Amino acid sequence: MARPLGILMLCLGNICRSPTAEGVLRARLDEAGLAARVRLDSAGTGSSHIGHPPDERAIACAGKHGIDLSALRARRLTLEDFDEFDTILCADRTILHDARMRKPRTSHAQVELLLEWSGVGKKDVPDPYYGASRDFEQTFKLVDAAAQGIVERVRQGRL
Ligand code: 4NP
Repeated sequence: MARPLGILMLCLGNICRSPTAEGVLRARLDEAGLAARVRLDSAGTGSSHIGHPPDERAIACAGKHGIDLSALRARRLTLEDFDEFDTILCADRTILHDARMRKPRTSHAQVELLLEWSGVGKKDVPDPYYGASRDFEQTFKLVDAAAQGIVERVRQGRL
C-alpha cells in the first residue's frame, strides 16, 4: 500500500478546534475503513497551552458524540512538521496566514484552510474558546462536515 498521507490539523491553542478535528477525522476514517491511509496529528501556532489536554468543553462536546479526546495533549507547530506532513489544515485564515509565513522554502507541504480543502466552503472554523457550549457544538458540526469531506477525498485519492 502507498505511504499514508500525513495530515496535521492546526489552530491557535491546540486545545479546542484542532484536537476536535483530529479526533473526529480519526473516528470517521475508522468507520470508513480508511484509517491506515492517513497519519494524523494536531498542533497549535501558539504556546500558551503546551502539554495541556483539550479544553474540558471540547472534551465534553466530542464525548456527547461518542469521541474521546481526553488522551490528546497540546503541542506547538514545529519547522519539522512542514517536512513530516503532506497537508496542514488550518482552522481559520489567521492561522493559514501564520502557517504559510512559517513554511520553509524547501517544504512541499500543502498548507490549506480546513473547511475549503474538505469541500465545505471557503470559511473559518470560529474560535469557541471565549464562547459557550453551543459554540463548541458549532465547532464540532463544522469539523465533522470537514472530516466527512476528507474521508471522500481519501476514498477518491484526491490528495
Ligand atoms: P483553539 O482555541 O485555537 O481552537 O485551541 C483557543 C484556545 C486558547 C486560546 C485561544 C483559542 N487562548 O487564547 O488561550
